[in-house]
Amino acid sequence: MSKRAAVDIKNGPSLFILERLSPSDILAPFDCSIREYNDYLIQEAQKAQNEFIAVTWLLHERENGSIVAYMSLINDAIKLTATEKELHHLDYPFRTIPATKIAKLAVSSLYCRQYKGIGTYMLYLAAGIAEDTNLKHSACRFVTVDADIEHDPNVTAFYTKNGFIPNTEMTSKHSKTISMRKDIWV
Ligand SMILES: CC(C)(COP(=O)(O)OP(=O)(O)OC[C@H]1O[C@@H](n2cnc3c(N)ncnc32)[C@H](O)[C@@H]1OP(=O)(O)O)[C@@H](O)C(=O)NCCC(=O)NCCS
Repeated sequence: MSKRAAVDIKNGPSLFILERLSPSDILAPFDCSIREYNDYLIQEAQKAQNEFIAVTWLLHERENGSIVAYMSLINDAIKLTATEKELHHLDYPFRTIPATKIAKLAVSSLYCRQYKGIGTYMLYLAAGIAEDTNLKHSACRFVTVDADIEHDPNVTAFYTKNGFIPNTEMTSKHSKTISMRKDIWV
């Protein structure tokens, strides 16, 4: 098997471009191996974006325009315990802290075989959008995700490797997801 090329924040911008989903995008060839995630992109993402429910960002390969990965972002707020607040030096009288949530994230299986690091690069881009929101529009202290352990029981490892930690208040024992956060204020 040939070695996968590594994508990182240095070579990512020369290989790929992140663009907001537009009605002219051809979505049908996208396949990340989880049907629900393919169907969401192809059938629901544009509607959700039009109706201010989720904004979808597509990572295109610069060379041929193919969709390499996508993520859908929404506004969020998470409840933290006193200990969690202390961990993030949040000295405020309220428990609910604003965030930007990755509601969906998927990398094309084709590109996963070719490159490693695309998912990590998408998380970096999500944090960049959240930072930009802070500078220009409204505050969000964390990037959050409900890690989908129903489709992939190991997926929390991907987020943990990228600096996310579980939210103790937000996940119930029988949940199909694990609520996680990453502090973008450093
Ligand atoms: C999860 C997903 C986004 C990861 O993208 P990716 O491009 O494969 O991830 P990366 O190459 O950046 O991986 C970074 C690290 O996380 C690990 N990792 C990636 N996916 C993993 C998974 N599913 N389980 C455990 N570890 C994982 C990698 O091995 C790598 O570790 P290393 O740095 O020690 O080599 C991608 O596999 C995907 O689209 N899966 C299907 C949809 C999905 O599950 N989305 C997430 C829903 S919450």
